[in-house]
Parts: sequence; C-alpha cells; structure tokens
Amino acid sequence: MQKRQLGPCVTFFPQPTTLISSVDHQGLVNVMTASWVGIVSKTPPTMAISLNKGRLSYANIRQTGCFTVNAVPADLAVAADFCGIRSGRDCDKLAVSGLSLTPGLHQQAPLIEESPLNVECRLAREIELGDYRLLLGEILDIHAAESAFDEQEKLSVPPFDPLVYLGGVREYWSLGEKIATAYHDGRQLVPEDPDRKD
Ligand SMILES: Cc1cc2nc3c(=O)[nH]c(=O)nc-3n(C[C@H](O)[C@H](O)[C@H](O)COP(=O)(O)O)c2cc1C
Repeated sequence: MQKRQLGPCVTFFPQPTTLISSVDHQGLVNVMTASWVGIVSKTPPTMAISLNKGRLSYANIRQTGCFTVNAVPADLAVAADFCGIRSGRDCDKLAVSGLSLTPGLHQQAPLIEESPLNVECRLAREIELGDYRLLLGEILDIHAAESAFDEQEKLSVPPFDPLVYLGGVREYWSLGEKIATAYHDGRQLVPEDPDRKD
C-alpha cells in the first residue's frame, strides 16, 4: 500500500462523538461536543477528555471537579454539531439544541436524557498539553439505556447507534455491521493453548 505523509496533525479515524456536560459553582449547566475522549484505565476505571483551556466547559470542570461524558447516537448529529460550534458563553446550547437533562447520581454534572450511555466522572488529574488540558476522570458510574438489554441481560449495540467522528475530514458517520468477536476471533491464528488466560 503506497502512503502519503500527512505530517504532525490530528487526523485519525474514527473518533467517538460525545457531549460533555458540566456545571459551574452556581449550578449553571453547559454542554460541549468532544471527540478527544476515551477510556484509559480499567483499574481504577478512568476516562480521559482533552479540552482546550479556553472552553467554558473546562472552566466549569475546574470549578466543580466533575463532568459527565454522554455518548451521541446518530440521530443527534445536528444537535451535537451545534454544541461543538457555539460556546455556552454566547448562547444557551441546551435551549437551542432541545437536549434535556436528568440529574447525576454521584456528582453535580447532569446526564443528557437523549444519550443512551452516560459516564459520570470525578476529576482526578489534569495534564497540561500546550493549549489543551488532558483531564482524567475517575468513573463513578455508567448509565446504559434499559432498552439496549436483551432477554439474556446482555447489552446489544444497535440501539446505541453511535455517531462516529472522522477528525481531519470533519465528517460524521454511523457504524456498519458487526465484523468479529473481540478477544476471541484472533485465536484462530494461534494453535490451541490449554493454559491460555484470556
Ligand atoms: C466533532 C467535534 C469534536 C470536538 N472535539 C473537541 C475536543 O475533543 N476538545 C475540545 O477542546 N474541543 C472540541 N470541539 C470544539 C468544542 O466543542 C467547541 O469549541 C465548543 O464551542 C466549546 O464549548 P464551550 O465553550 O461551551 O465549552 C469539538 C467540536 C466538534 C464539532
């Protein structure tokens, strides 16, 4: 495969599309779109978000020490894009987008009701990265839509219909079909090992 060098940039496919909800010390809630987001540790369960230090959301999180990461389903693409192109300093993004809130169980930043997966976090650590701040959040709880559980109590993915962001080309896509089972289908490339621990 022939390659073309893009240089040091932020093009990477795919990235999640999330909405970060936060609250200031007076209880005013804000929502912003973020794609530089991911789970980064299992023990302790930790989520990382990277925010430009000028975002209102960053100021809120510094004030109250908490945030909620809300997964975005494909049908919220327009609302999510709007929350990524306007600051809460200039308009009430919740009123314009029509998104609704429900209180968190463990911290002050509310959950977005229309999101099928909400991750409540307590700010644990902050790392300076030029104009950005990598915020590490201890995961306090995750709320998953009841409608996504099947009869065996297993989470099924299609109801989440995650909106994927393609950084660099600035496009939103939805997921295709399931391709393989993780931690399993790779085994066909190695001989059976009875001591295997995975
Ligand atoms: C798809 C998308 C992804 C974004 N991801 C991030 C991100 O990860 N970090 C960040 O600081 N800004 C990101 N932004 C920009 C912020 O959402 C935007 O600056 C927003 O207006 C900040 O809102 P606030 O000032 O109300 O906090 C993204 C915007 C879009 C459209």
